[in-house]
Amino acid sequence: MQDVRSDFPVLKNNPGLAYLDSAASSLRPQSVIEAMDEYYTHYSANVHRGIHHLSEHATEKFENAREKVGAFIGSPNPRQIIFTRNATDSSNMVWRGWASKFLGKEKRILITMMEHHAHFVPALEFCKETGAILDVAPLTEDFRLDESKFHELLEKKPDFVALIHASNVLGTINNVQPLIEAAHRKGAVVMLDMSQSVPHMSLDVRALDPDFAFFSGHKMLAPSGIGVLWVKEKYLEQLSPVTYGGSMIAQVHSDEFALNDPPLRFEAGTPPIAEVIGLGAAVEYMAKIGWDAFGDHESEIIAYTLTSLKKLPYVRLFGPSDAKDRLGVFAFHVAGVPAHDVASILDEHNVAVRAGFHCAQPVHEAYKAGPSVRASTHIYTTKTDIDQLVAGLAKAQQVFK
Ligand code: ALA
Repeated sequence: MQDVRSDFPVLKNNPGLAYLDSAASSLRPQSVIEAMDEYYTHYSANVHRGIHHLSEHATEKFENAREKVGAFIGSPNPRQIIFTRNATDSSNMVWRGWASKFLGKEKRILITMMEHHAHFVPALEFCKETGAILDVAPLTEDFRLDESKFHELLEKKPDFVALIHASNVLGTINNVQPLIEAAHRKGAVVMLDMSQSVPHMSLDVRALDPDFAFFSGHKMLAPSGIGVLWVKEKYLEQLSPVTYGGSMIAQVHSDEFALNDPPLRFEAGTPPIAEVIGLGAAVEYMAKIGWDAFGDHESEIIAYTLTSLKKLPYVRLFGPSDAKDRLGVFAFHVAGVPAHDVASILDEHNVAVRAGFHCAQPVHEAYKAGPSVRASTHIYTTKTDIDQLVAGLAKAQQVFK
């Protein structure tokens, strides 16, 4: 993947760096940076407002990005794509703008122990505020969702299910389509966190069939500060905006106002224009590489990393030990070395990883584990990066012997 690596200026500007922190934030290709730069240097103007040609051009690029993102995830209509600040913002919009209207005291909510804080924390807060009841589906010893327990909890007829597609800690990919179908059969509305899956696999919201789904740009080669909330058509009118002000209105009088149509109804104020355009360029870049090439590369790196880590007796991996239904996300402990020390020593060896709970503390608790070290890969990761990680881990282990 050498030709792909040359697309990423951070790699060129940091020779010898093994960037293994893509689950926290991916690198961005030159085409994304250029698309944003072009906006700022050639047609930097507000959108949906001006009638001058700069604003018209900016609006066209902005809406074109919405179409690209929609097509990328199989959205039947681009108006179902709502631009937000990030995945957490998207999730909160649903809890505040939909759940607060349709769920309340004694309604049941089902989530899994694998959820990112973007699902977990709003769910806990919502239940605390409203008296709704929260059920949490457990995980198995081999780091997968306990599907039989999930189905048992569905028998309690939850009104709302919030489910992660792929874990940002374990790397586990959940087979969500049948789970969503089963939740629907029990009458639940389903929200899917696709933050970790969208950057790594071809997805189609029509096939998966969630009612709400979200992800952020910064994990998928796009800028930070931009996220997406996808809403099934029938929920677009049920969802209320959570931010009121400019742009989201059709008319305002001194005593009343009328809402704009979706999706602008949910995008109050001046949006992150360059970031949206950057997200459109990222989607274009990923489409150009193609899922076949993407998938082949990722499978090879995942298999290589698993083989390499398994050779280290002092490494305890939290995640499936086989490459099946798994992403390139590897959380682990190094015997006798605190996670943050491992990350510091790796940094001295020019290996960037994350240490901590990775915005998913409950999944650590499920395995009675403290903070972990996490190495995560992307399209630009090479076997040399993994070798560098392994060499750094050997050093970390020696230092603490
Ligand atoms: N959610 C991001 C992570 O997994 C930030 O690290």
